[in-house]
Amino acid sequence: MGVGYSRGAMQPYVPPKPGYRSGAGRLGGVLARGGRSILNLLPRQAYTVQMGQARIGRRRVFLVNAPETVRSVLVTDAQHYPKHHYIEDILRPLIGVSLFNANGADWAQQRRLVDQAFAAANLRRAFPLMRAAVDDLLDRLARRDAREPWPADVAMAHVTADIIFRTILSTPLAPEPAQQVHDAFRSYQENAQRVMALSALHLPTWLHRWRCRQMGARIRASFAPLVHARYAAVARGEADLPQDMLAALIAARDPDTGARLSAAQAVDQVATLFLAGHETSASTLAWALYLLACQPELQQQVRDEVAAAWGDRAPEFGDTRHLALTQDVFKETLRLYPPIAFYLREAAEAGRCLRDKPVAQGDMVAVSPWIVHRHEGLWAQPDVFDPCRFRTEAGLASARGAYLPFGMGPRACPGAAFATQESLLLLAQIVRRFRIETVAGAVPVPVARLTLRALGGVRLCLRPVRSPSGVPQA
Ligand code: HEM
Repeated sequence: MGVGYSRGAMQPYVPPKPGYRSGAGRLGGVLARGGRSILNLLPRQAYTVQMGQARIGRRRVFLVNAPETVRSVLVTDAQHYPKHHYIEDILRPLIGVSLFNANGADWAQQRRLVDQAFAAANLRRAFPLMRAAVDDLLDRLARRDAREPWPADVAMAHVTADIIFRTILSTPLAPEPAQQVHDAFRSYQENAQRVMALSALHLPTWLHRWRCRQMGARIRASFAPLVHARYAAVARGEADLPQDMLAALIAARDPDTGARLSAAQAVDQVATLFLAGHETSASTLAWALYLLACQPELQQQVRDEVAAAWGDRAPEFGDTRHLALTQDVFKETLRLYPPIAFYLREAAEAGRCLRDKPVAQGDMVAVSPWIVHRHEGLWAQPDVFDPCRFRTEAGLASARGAYLPFGMGPRACPGAAFATQESLLLLAQIVRRFRIETVAGAVPVPVARLTLRALGGVRLCLRPVRSPSGVPQA
């Protein structure tokens, strides 16, 4: 359990949440003009109803909140609600048609192949790579001027991209290309949102598609040459090649058909693993650090927990399991700021119902962890940041039905354990060395596009923590 903790005199803290939409305004039109995110367009009722309906252009959209209906869409009837074709469409310039956006038999085969790579990147093997990347981050942080605001979201994107780079490709990722990927993905997300909204309104999308292709190419250029070089080395029969996730992808064979990945297909899978595997964790970590900065007492309790569990030594594999409070902070951050805020599905055929409402073929069905996690009928004080809730009967009951930051069913995240291990390690190591403080006036505003990011970034202050002897902690 780690050290005990309590809310004590802490006031209920409600972290940033966009206001509700009041006026009419067409959903698709507002999104198509860009700038605003879907979160600004949600009316208050979205957080109270069991299921809602809206229209984007000519398309009907079901918003599903009730836990049993969410379950039917994502788990029991999952084959009737494949990922929406918009997802394939807007991600294609970035990840081709690979694990995240494929459907049907194609997806099933890809999952069988990529699962073999996940088995190779097991947590024990990944841990030293994570620790090395985190140590490099700590070195960078120790060298920076503590009086300058720290762009936490950029730093988290760099370290998580570095971790996944080391895990997949056995090579670190330098700060400059990491920053370029971060910026390119922001631009990609803005343009992808417009493509989606304009498509729904049957308006021209070519300009934003062109920008997506440009940004997609820029991101892929950071790893595609490495994948091709490795394929060539394997073909030449080179010895002593790294035994990493890419090696497992190259070696993977479909147990049913014997199929394997070509170099081009492997680039697409690496793109999925790279993006799904760092952007999400980076978003969660940046929010978690901001929430800890806003709650100095809680932050100190996390620091005490790490000190009690690890003392002054370097963390070893398995050590993150002893950080109960840090785990609850991570879980509560994922509840309030799920990095993938909407799961979009499409009814594959007519003849099915959702809560007695007939669904037509092609209708969009949206499950939003952002909304479900903040639903007034499913959680007590849903907008309050309270890591303690996961230790109460009521909180655990809510979590059983209405907590899904990693998705559910066959398309659930295969990287959840990886993300949890790296995030706990990062939070513990940062809090151990630094006191995290807010920057006056810098309040991050959540914006949901493909992933949840903070408009204007997450800017914080870091001050080195001194041990009782006055020496900065090792
Ligand atoms: C906090 C971190 C993360 C969160 C919250 C997260 C969340 C999710 C969610 C919600 C989905 C399913 C989306 C849907 O059903 O529409 C998903 C899929 C996926 N995630 Fe993660 N993820 C995280 C980290 C990772 C990591 C570290 C990896 C890889 C190492 C990863 C790889 C994937 C892949 C490959 C898929 C597609 C699976 C499929 O469709 O078969 N994710 N993730």
